[in-house]
Amino acid sequence: VIDEVRRRARVSGPAWTASLLADRVLRVNVLGRWPERRVPYDALERQVLAILEAWRVREPEVVARHLLYADLHGIVSHGVAMLRHYAAGPFTLHAATEVVRDEGATAVVDGGGGLGHLPADRAMRLAIGKAREHGVGAVAVRHSGHFGAAGSYAALARDEGLIGIALTNVRDPAVVPTHGAEPRLGTNAIAFAARELMLDIATSTVSLGRAVARWRAGKRIPTGWAIDAHGRPVRSGRVANEQRRLTPLGSRPETSSHKGYGLAAMVEALTGVLTESAVGHFLVALDPARFGDGFDGRMDAFTASLRATRRLDPARAVLVPGDPERAAQQDRAARGIPLSRSVVEDLRLVAADAAVPFAL
Ligand SMILES: NC(=O)c1ccc[n+]([C@@H]2O[C@H](COP(=O)([O-])OP(=O)(O)OC[C@H]3O[C@@H](n4cnc5c(N)ncnc54)[C@H](O)[C@@H]3O)[C@@H](O)[C@H]2O)c1
Repeated sequence: VIDEVRRRARVSGPAWTASLLADRVLRVNVLGRWPERRVPYDALERQVLAILEAWRVREPEVVARHLLYADLHGIVSHGVAMLRHYAAGPFTLHAATEVVRDEGATAVVDGGGGLGHLPADRAMRLAIGKAREHGVGAVAVRHSGHFGAAGSYAALARDEGLIGIALTNVRDPAVVPTHGAEPRLGTNAIAFAARELMLDIATSTVSLGRAVARWRAGKRIPTGWAIDAHGRPVRSGRVANEQRRLTPLGSRPETSSHKGYGLAAMVEALTGVLTESAVGHFLVALDPARFGDGFDGRMDAFTASLRATRRLDPARAVLVPGDPERAAQQDRAARGIPLSRSVVEDLRLVAADAAVPFAL
């Protein structure tokens, strides 16, 4: 701990280190009071690339693109904030990916025990080629690691005029099955992209990151996000993060948590179980033209009809999944990406450890 404090003080200065100590030792939320900073996309990309290159990550520009997809679309928990965790492992950072099976509409990519971004990118691009040829492409990734936001891979297929699906499981369980007292599943993610519809979700009621963010904002978490070992609601985001017993989507048995549990189990079957690995992904591309004409126009009419739904509250628009991220993307492309001071200082430390200049 003393080493860590010295290191932080050297890299980030005494004021930040004191805040960090208050946060960790006294459990007083001081970090959340520091102002955030807006950073232009290109500057952030250059900083991330410098770190990834120092780590000898293969094809760093591909990894950086998927990391920054999350920050650009307002999914702050799954972008550059992850670099601190990636630095700590358990990954082979310069792992090579390899296509180990390739037959007709299916293939298997091995991630080599590294980060998931590169093998998932490669798998989706392979699936896209197969969808062009066969109408559908389904590619599993085995022996992989964290890949960030699932939507970033579904978007690759969508941007080619296809339908994209991306699934991932998670190494460390943090979700309890319905009626269960202990975590058995990850926050397993599902992304589905077609035209303007982009659903990109965890199968837990919320992510651990959201619970921690509430704590940082000085707020309790609502009943139903997380439970303790006796099934009692946990109301502190910090405690929820420590205990790792999030509820499946649906929250409680009375509000159909079995559906989120079932979705998480489905994702696990198609990722960890199918690929026989701790972290696996499943990427699908579908060509709608193989099923008939006019899909794009009908999708656009469908999403327009959703937005035109009569509102409950005139001040709150009915959105289509994907709308919040599109709005975030427009704002961030124009005004820069907001980074909390915690993320800035973590990046400063990661850069110092990788012996690259910090330029944000
Ligand atoms: N790599 C991993 O191991 C892993 C695991 C779990 C989750 N994730 C990622 O975490 C991210 C966040 O997941 P989450 O579940 O916290 O997201 P979330 O609860 O913020 O939900 C996001 C989704 O809901 C849609 N949405 C939000 N408000 C809406 C509204 N009013 N009407 C219609 N749609 C609306 C968004 O467009 C988006 O598709 C995702 O990118 C996911 O892929 C990654």
